[in-house]
Amino acid sequence: MTSSLTGNLKWWQSGIIYQIYPRSYQDDSGDGVGDLRGITRRLPYVASLGVRAVWLSPIFKSPMRDFGYDVADYCAIDPLFGTLEDFDALVAQAHRLGLKIMLDYVPNHSSSDHAWFQEALTGPSSAKRDWYVWRDPAPGGGVPNNWKSFFGGPAWTLDGASGQYYLHQFLPSQPDLNWRNPAVRAAMFDVLRFWMRRGVDGFRVDVIWLLAEDNRYLDEPRNPDWQPGQPEHSSLLHPYTQDQPETHGYIREMRAVLEEFDDRMMVGEIYLPVDRLLTYSGTEDARMVHLPFNFHLILLPWNAAQVRQFTDGYDAACLAAGAWPNWVLGNHDQRRFRSRVGDAQYRVAQTLLLTLRGTPTVYYGDEIGMRDVVIPADRIVDPAALQQPDSPEAGRDPERTPMQWDDAVNAGFSAPGTTPWLPLADDAVILNVAAQEQDPASDLNYFRALTRLREGHPALIGGTYRSVDAPEDVFAFVREGHGETLTVLLNMGSREHDLGGLTRGETLLSSLGDRPASGAPLRPDEARILR
Ligand code: GLC
Repeated sequence: MTSSLTGNLKWWQSGIIYQIYPRSYQDDSGDGVGDLRGITRRLPYVASLGVRAVWLSPIFKSPMRDFGYDVADYCAIDPLFGTLEDFDALVAQAHRLGLKIMLDYVPNHSSSDHAWFQEALTGPSSAKRDWYVWRDPAPGGGVPNNWKSFFGGPAWTLDGASGQYYLHQFLPSQPDLNWRNPAVRAAMFDVLRFWMRRGVDGFRVDVIWLLAEDNRYLDEPRNPDWQPGQPEHSSLLHPYTQDQPETHGYIREMRAVLEEFDDRMMVGEIYLPVDRLLTYSGTEDARMVHLPFNFHLILLPWNAAQVRQFTDGYDAACLAAGAWPNWVLGNHDQRRFRSRVGDAQYRVAQTLLLTLRGTPTVYYGDEIGMRDVVIPADRIVDPAALQQPDSPEAGRDPERTPMQWDDAVNAGFSAPGTTPWLPLADDAVILNVAAQEQDPASDLNYFRALTRLREGHPALIGGTYRSVDAPEDVFAFVREGHGETLTVLLNMGSREHDLGGLTRGETLLSSLGDRPASGAPLRPDEARILR
């Protein structure tokens, strides 16, 4: 596992994962929403980035109340995105280009429109009743306990016909599947097999740490650190609705299904501290997910000391657990990282993501430096925002806006004359792929320079990681392997630093676009890679 020979590494260890939010990548059908044919047409661009795999956020049949994370049929493509034939063509084209395809698997909940839930609603004696989680009202009436939905309000909704409540960790239209029921597990495992037989190489597994709940249904305790304005869900701690022992068992079964096929993988969405997070890798004799998503670069304050401290601890913990590390700066649920760290630090962050030890996952548009887009009140569509008007940070539309391809009306995402489902960034006319293709000094070409550097210097992929002491504001580390030692210097502050011996060597890449001489001081907001 910790071999420094990249030849021994699997594709999901040596390669970069690129996340596409299908609604926003390329609209070829002219309805203002992206689609599979659009993505297929853009795959040569994706391949040109030097990434290895594409993860598609959900494309399955859905009423789109949570934009596809509410699945009404796990084995059908939503007509908005195209057909199964379009999907097969996408997979074939990806494979021709050397790209792996990963789907978003949403096992915790289905849509309330799913035939299973519709059947469950016919009454307590229905064969599908126990496929979801039902409880009687509390003794005095009302919801069974205090559990809350991630999108605000109770996690329980009353089914008037039967007088029972059903559980939903998200919208009432996203009822939680009952993973304790073996029939549910069998059906959901068949979904994985269905897509693997169609050539899918891997899965990103939605909220995998939420699959089971404690079946005593006790109230969850209050979170003493919660502040008004933060989402209501975080006003409670979650000892009974997250990270349950049963969930670990279900994931081991899921892993066994992946092992029925060659060279497949899954990455799990898990927001937990490192010690709990790494338990999701499993052990040598009982593997779980291949990669438990590490979101800590998103959650940490952007300063050198804290990023170093976290990275040292995480890298060591991964080695101890026999887990392969991974890194994320953004996704469809989080602010764009350029907006978070600021323009000056944008390339520093990009360099960090692509040079740390472990698999990077890149969110579409981050390679050209897209920013969060301010969404006018009448264009907000995300249920997390609409249901929680008092939590301004809850909305996810700003990071989901259409890809900026060129300077045409609708930025080449949609034909001029259509209204994209979310507004485009005001600066799309200047900040777009076509403009950056022309400019050797663009963010896009800086991204490509980083991925080429990884290709050309396997120490950046399979080499060891070790941080080095440096002045406050500077995060410095060494990647070593294959007979090469590379030093990565990240100035996370706005002062110049004379780093003496650390800057000695040949500059392979600087975020400021030049090749500083050996020993030259590290400039404000500069990222530099030396050998
Ligand atoms: C995950 C997804 C998010 C979705 C939620 C419910 O957190 O990333 O977009 O709303 O699950 O499925």
